[in-house]
Amino acid sequence: MKVNWLKQVNLKGNVLDIGTGDGINLKYYSLYKKNINHITCVEPNVHLHTKLLQRAKQYNLPVELFSGTFEQFAKKNPKLEFDTITGIFVLCSVDNSEVVIDGLYSVLKLGGTLALFEHIKQQNNLILNIIQILFLPVHLYYGGGCNLRRLHASTLKKYKFNNVKEEYLTCYKILMLWMVKFYSFVGNKPLVY
Ligand SMILES: C[S@@+](CC[C@H](N)C(=O)[O-])C[C@H]1O[C@@H](n2cnc3c(N)ncnc32)[C@H](O)[C@@H]1O
Repeated sequence: MKVNWLKQVNLKGNVLDIGTGDGINLKYYSLYKKNINHITCVEPNVHLHTKLLQRAKQYNLPVELFSGTFEQFAKKNPKLEFDTITGIFVLCSVDNSEVVIDGLYSVLKLGGTLALFEHIKQQNNLILNIIQILFLPVHLYYGGGCNLRRLHASTLKKYKFNNVKEEYLTCYKILMLWMVKFYSFVGNKPLVY
């Protein structure tokens, strides 16, 4: 699923990955190694850093790790700009996704790509909606604050991205816990306003 998603992303240049976790996705990023100059991984959970750095080494990726939240990173590095920004299952864990999206937009180069792969709040399917509500407390507890119902796809609509590709993927196959929709967003910041 993530491999297919990354095919649309055009991972290149200076990459910012927020909420990298233990680096489980770095193996997919390594498929695009020849197009990548540098990857800045932003991860506040220090218990995941050793594994993350081990994986970066294993896949020979030019990774630099920022220990902290994206909000802290953006405050410390207001002038940095990235060609590609990725986030996989991160906005569902942050306290204020709109503040983070604002920040991501401002550190994205003109013409750069923002790519998010997220849980999304169920809206139209009653059964999936009920399942999601029932599983929410369990998921919040075991997922370290990951709120399946936090992000609305419409949050991203107010940003004026170009070439937007949106996809909703329903995953019935794995565990009941994952019986929710995923939302994939890939968009470019316009070259001119
Ligand atoms: C559900 S995990 C996903 C990890 C990884 N991206 C993956 O797909 O396995 C969410 C990650 O986001 C991190 N996180 C939470 N709030 C964050 C923030 N404000 N800025 C950056 N990362 C954050 C958490 O520490 C956690 O590692």
